[in-house]
Amino acid sequence: MKTLISYIDEQNIDLEELKKHAKLLKEGKTVIFPTETVYGIGADALNEDAVSKIYKAKGRPSDNPLIVHISNIDKVYELSRNVSDKAKIVMEKFWPGPLTIILPKNKIVPNKTTGGLDTVAVRMPSNKIALKLLELSDLVVAAPSANISGRPSPTKGEHVVNEMNEKVSGIIVGDKSDFGIESTVIDFTEEIPLILRPGVISQSDLEKVIGKVNIDKSLLKKEDNIKAKAPGMKYTHYSPNADVFIFSGENKFENINKIIKENEAKNIKSGVICKTQNKDKYLGEVIALGKDSLEIASNLFDSLRQMDNKNIDVVYAEEFEFDEVGVAVMNRLLKASGYKIIKF
Ligand code: TXA
Ligand code: MG
Repeated sequence: MKTLISYIDEQNIDLEELKKHAKLLKEGKTVIFPTETVYGIGADALNEDAVSKIYKAKGRPSDNPLIVHISNIDKVYELSRNVSDKAKIVMEKFWPGPLTIILPKNKIVPNKTTGGLDTVAVRMPSNKIALKLLELSDLVVAAPSANISGRPSPTKGEHVVNEMNEKVSGIIVGDKSDFGIESTVIDFTEEIPLILRPGVISQSDLEKVIGKVNIDKSLLKKEDNIKAKAPGMKYTHYSPNADVFIFSGENKFENINKIIKENEAKNIKSGVICKTQNKDKYLGEVIALGKDSLEIASNLFDSLRQMDNKNIDVVYAEEFEFDEVGVAVMNRLLKASGYKIIKF
């Protein structure tokens, strides 16, 4: 498939170029576009054939539902048959932005889009290119993260150009994603709204406006004390080619450096991802992600891809704080590691 690749400046959008991609979407084709969270692969959410192309390009299991992206709040009432008061408050407060809400669906939303569920996930992104593309196409656009299923989500244009060229009809390259992890997903079909996926909009941000919100505790399920070379129990989500381990505990610097030296003797290339404050403490290939959880989130997926580019065999990731945004960071990291944790 030939892919139209366009480089667009978010601060000075070339409308004529963007219209070509809006046209592709209207023709039932797939277009990758930047959002403030991660890049998404979009297609007309109300057109089953178009939606099928997304699943095919990603190699995604068809029972995994998609998020429908909108540029105008009124569209929610077309997509959902019942928008609760709490959902309305949250939409007004956090949209456009990195938040997805789950609502009972209306008939116009095909089962293909919702993976057969009776609910629909909706989000209004804040990225200016994304909003303008949605507006120009006059569609509601289903868009999962634009990675091959199982790989880290893409946060830079180069990630999608390298991975998805010739798998989609259009790619719009914008800036690096602001947040770098996917939107918070909150389910309003539960009595008490339930966070299904943590993101930069935290449980306490939501509780400030709608009162009690639950968070699915299994999001941070841990298995402790697994040996560093535990045989392949790789959970395929956000995974680079390298094997990933999270480490923490007593004398973590000396202990991890000892493992890195042992690996070196066996010709195993090691990498470390860590807080910027600790970057001089480690041997091996070190990538500093940032000083706080928000900065760490924005660089996490890119660092995993960089480790692959450097042909690293094993990545050791510091356990980061479980503060508000840190919960979202650790959720992604736990999945990327297949919940493999080394506790010293
Ligand atoms: O930030 C984001 O949300 C990005 C950008 C592109 O907008 N999109 C994204 O989509 O992360 P995706 O498909 O990679 O993740 C969507 C998540 C999945 O975990 C999916 O299972 C869940 O949302 N989801 C979608 N519809 C749902 C529904 N009706 N009920 C429960 N979970 C749903
Ligand atoms: Mg995804």
